[in-house]
Amino acid sequence: MTTTNKPSLDAYWMPFTANRQFKKAPRQFVRASGMHYWTDDGRQVLDGVAGLWCVNAGHARPKIVQAIAAQAQEMDYAPPFQMAHPKAFELAERVAALAPAGLNKVFFTNSGSESVETALKIALAYHRARGEGQRTRLIGRERGYHGVNFGGISVGGLVANRKAFGPLLGGVDHLRHTHDAARNVFSVGQPLHGAELADDLERLCALHDPSTIAAVIVEPVAGSTGVLVPPQGYLQRLREICTKHGILLIFDEVITGFGRTGNPFAAQTFGVTPDIITAAKGLTNGCVPMGAVMVRQDIHDAFMQGPEHLIEFFHGYTYSAHPLACAAGLATLDTYADEGLLTRAAELEAYFAQGVHSLKGAPHVIDVRNIGLVGGIELASREGAPGLRAFDVFLDCFANGLLVRTTGDTVALSPPLIIERSQIDQIIETLGAAIRRVA
Ligand SMILES: Cc1ncc(COP(=O)(O)O)c(C=O)c1O
Repeated sequence: MTTTNKPSLDAYWMPFTANRQFKKAPRQFVRASGMHYWTDDGRQVLDGVAGLWCVNAGHARPKIVQAIAAQAQEMDYAPPFQMAHPKAFELAERVAALAPAGLNKVFFTNSGSESVETALKIALAYHRARGEGQRTRLIGRERGYHGVNFGGISVGGLVANRKAFGPLLGGVDHLRHTHDAARNVFSVGQPLHGAELADDLERLCALHDPSTIAAVIVEPVAGSTGVLVPPQGYLQRLREICTKHGILLIFDEVITGFGRTGNPFAAQTFGVTPDIITAAKGLTNGCVPMGAVMVRQDIHDAFMQGPEHLIEFFHGYTYSAHPLACAAGLATLDTYADEGLLTRAAELEAYFAQGVHSLKGAPHVIDVRNIGLVGGIELASREGAPGLRAFDVFLDCFANGLLVRTTGDTVALSPPLIIERSQIDQIIETLGAAIRRVA
C-alpha cells in the first residue's frame, strides 16, 4: 500500500467500534516494534494495552517473526481432523507444562470466544459421558466477558453484548459481580471485602439443585468490564462450593493467561486450581490467532471410552492447531522463557501499582484497581453520556502518543510485559495529563 493511494474506508464494517465516528476521524497503525506502534502519519505511540491484552512480549519479536516465516515456507497448513503435525504436540506439551498441575490435556482453538464455547461443550459432554447428563445448567457472572459467541454471551454478563440477540442459551444463571465500590474503593491489589459473594453459588444450588449444574465460568480478574480484581478469599470459596457439589470450575484466562498477573496463569497467582482453563491472546503473542483449553486429565479420560475407531468428542475447527499458530506459539513461549516474562509482572507490580494509584485525586477519578500489570482507572460518568469522558481521555492519550483502552468510563492498562519503569512513568504522566485536560 502506498500512502498516495489510500484504500476507501467504506467496505470494512469494524468490530466493537463506533464506525461512523471512526470513519470521520480514523486512527490507523502501520508499524509496530517492541513497546511501540507507529501511526499512518508517522507518530510513535507507546502501547499501554499490549495491542488488545495480547502482545505480552512486545511487538515484532525476532524469534516469533522468523518462526512464522519459516513455518509458512515449510508447511502452510495441515488438516487437524484425523491428521496432525509435530508442532501441535510440542506446543500442547509446553502449554500443559505451564498450566497448574493436573491440567495436562490441551485442545486448540482460534480465539478466546472459541475457547469458551469449547470449554462449555467439554463440561456438558463430560457429565453426560459419566452418566450425569442431567447436569446441563451453566453458571456465569454479572459483568463477565467470555467472548461473543452464543455460549459466551449467554454466560457473560455485559448487557450491551446480550440484549440484541434474543433468548440466548437456556438454562443459564448468573452470580452477582464482585465490584463493591462502597467497601473496596481504591484497593491496592485484591480488595478485602466480598468473599461471601461466592455464596451466591450455594443459593443457585439451592434454587436449581446442584445435580442440574454442569459448570461455573468466571474470569479470575474480570478485564473487559473494567478490571475487577477478585476479593480476597472469593475464588477459594467458589472452588470449595464447586468441589462440594461436583460442579466444574472454569477459569476464563484469555486476558490473565501468559504472565499478566505475575505467573503463567492467574490460577497460580491466586492459588486456586480450576478444572478447566480457557486461554488465547498471549499464547501466540497476538501474532497468529490461536486459543487453547486446558483440561484435567480425568475429564479428558471420561471421553476415552467406546470403540477406539470412533471420534470421542464431536468438536473442532478447521484451523485448530494451525501450523503457523503452533510455530508462533512455540517461539512465543521461548521468548517468554528467555526473558523471564511470565513472572515479570510480579516484579513490576508494586511500581505499577504506585503509578496507577498516584492518579487518585485527579479530576473525576472515582476508583483505581490493579493486579500484576493490569490497571483500571474509573472516571465519573458525564451526566447522560456514559463512556464519553473515558473515550475523550482515550483520544487525548492517542493524540499524545499513548494507546489505552476504555470500557464504559474505566480506562484500562495492560502493557506488554517487557515494559521498563520509565515507560510506566510515561504512561502515568500522559494519562494523568489527559484526565486533567478532559473536563
Ligand atoms: C476473558 C475473555 N474471554 C474471551 C474473550 C474473547 O476472546 P476473542 O476476542 O479472542 O474471541 C476475551 C477477549 O477479550 C476475554 O477477555
